[in-house]
Amino acid sequence: MDHALLTRTARAMVAKGKGVLAADESAGTCEKRFQSVNVPCTEENRRTYRGLLFSTPGVNKYVSGVILHDETLRQKNDAGLPYPQMLEKLGIVPGIKVDKGTIDIPLTTGGEKVTEGLDGLRKRLAEYFKLGARFAKWRAVITIGENIPSHTCIYANAHALARYAAACQAASIVPMIEPEVLLDGRHSVERCEEVTEATLRATFAALAAYNVSLEHTILKASMVVSGKDCPRQAGVDEVAERTLRVLTRTVPAALPGVVFLSGGQSDLAATAHLDAMNRLGAPWPLTFSYSRALQNSALKTWSGKPANTVAAQQAFAHRAHMNGLAAEGKWKRDLEKQAA
Ligand code: 13P
Repeated sequence: MDHALLTRTARAMVAKGKGVLAADESAGTCEKRFQSVNVPCTEENRRTYRGLLFSTPGVNKYVSGVILHDETLRQKNDAGLPYPQMLEKLGIVPGIKVDKGTIDIPLTTGGEKVTEGLDGLRKRLAEYFKLGARFAKWRAVITIGENIPSHTCIYANAHALARYAAACQAASIVPMIEPEVLLDGRHSVERCEEVTEATLRATFAALAAYNVSLEHTILKASMVVSGKDCPRQAGVDEVAERTLRVLTRTVPAALPGVVFLSGGQSDLAATAHLDAMNRLGAPWPLTFSYSRALQNSALKTWSGKPANTVAAQQAFAHRAHMNGLAAEGKWKRDLEKQAA
């Protein structure tokens, strides 16, 4: 366990004005996203599209790290340079998604999920480190519904997160723990706050039980928002206040930083929420680790056509820039300055 490397990696991931690009979509998710723009989801198209994102001019001004899929970690750019090395040269930390997706939790009702991937993880982490990965993500999924989440679901996922986090640190890889409370459903923002608090409490208790070093852990959190189909949608300031309240109650100040997923929020909402939180201020750097909210416009613009590459890169650079401003609480201020 290389403490100095873990410290350097964690600091770099949450460097001022920068955040993380999540480009680790599973084959199934990729299939859906590519289908939406009529592009066949082949290995070569995935390589080309992700290469487009990584080679966007100036991307390293706003992007500190990229979460890669196993496939991408082994792919090369057009010049034959492996993607992890290409990113490293740009000063961007390569990361890897290490969970193996979710399965139904036995003996529970409500279709709740637990994340798999602990078997053989140590061996995989050793290989990923050799291939250049310096941080690793694991996503747990918590669904809100009638009588759920159950204690079983929160507990099972917290323990899996803690076991994976300990294995990462032993391999000198920074864990990016992601207990995602889904925004799907009709639940209120109050209910989301309650569930997020319970989830984070259980997660940090499990990390302590497994001796995980908080100084070398990054939290990837979901924001406290109204359920997608809830009639009352909380506004930007309310989301920011509720999210920060939950985080300050549950997340130790020793953590080097907190990053957020976008979870199906619109591009603009994801930026506005992050900006509002940073204007309020927090004990940790707060930044983004978005997939959809960074990529939606770029993917649509590209639509599989080489002639659209530059325009797609511009769309991606714009969102990365806006979120970079939001990571410093300067997005709204700058918008207002422009409007004045
Ligand atoms: P979204 O920003 O699209 O929610 O994706 C982030 C992520 O990494 C999900 O695991």
